[in-house]
Amino acid sequence: MTDTPRSDPAKDAAAQAAVKLVKPGMKLGLGTGSTANVFVHRLAERMQEDPFELRCAATSKATAELAQSLGLRVESLDELGWLDLTIDGADEVDPDLNLIKGGGGAHLREKIVARASDRMVVIADPGKVVEQLGRFHLPVEVIPFGWRSTEAQIRRGLDDLGLTERPITLRKREDRVFMTDEGNLILDLALEAIPNAYELAAIFADIPGVVEHGLFLNICHLAIIGREDGTSAELVTEENL
Ligand code: 5RP
Repeated sequence: MTDTPRSDPAKDAAAQAAVKLVKPGMKLGLGTGSTANVFVHRLAERMQEDPFELRCAATSKATAELAQSLGLRVESLDELGWLDLTIDGADEVDPDLNLIKGGGGAHLREKIVARASDRMVVIADPGKVVEQLGRFHLPVEVIPFGWRSTEAQIRRGLDDLGLTERPITLRKREDRVFMTDEGNLILDLALEAIPNAYELAAIFADIPGVVEHGLFLNICHLAIIGREDGTSAELVTEENL
């Protein structure tokens, strides 16, 4: 089941505003998740009404399948090389446009695609806007080999930052261990609040079994927040004005 534009007015409002940012000739990154799915539907509708040259790279197998099924041209990131724009959802957006992503377990490819783009734009509903990151669990992708020792190193790092006794859960879906598109595992960290996101990211970078974490720091350029009434608002930081 994919999310269609009718599923959620706020997501749809954000998606429709983001579709306007897509210009002929662009190379475009497509995100993952329910909001990104609505965007893919709206983009495909626009392309049907008014076809133009557009090459897309997807951040997950699921998005690639959806986009292709709706007639969009999807190629690998390596075929496209560098992207003009990536549009993706997020689990949390803070006032500096730092994000938590990975609720759908795709944050590794999402970060690779976002970092290979001139601009990353997030589309979200108002429930994703937070003052401080951390209420949503922080996903950390780890390789299966030795994952318990990786978990122990993460725990030690959290202790060092004063984030003691925070639950860490191996992600499962329908009682089976969740595997990412890259064949890795996800540990979900219930941190409650992350006062020191850059320090935490540095700790993850020093743990060999961690492939990538869901903190997107200084990557997003603009967030479009849709509202239930069909309007949307833009969040930008001063340096991106
Ligand atoms: C997937 C993601 C998604 O963008 C994030 O989970 C938001 O999803 P949704 O739009 O369904 O709320 O990071 O890895």
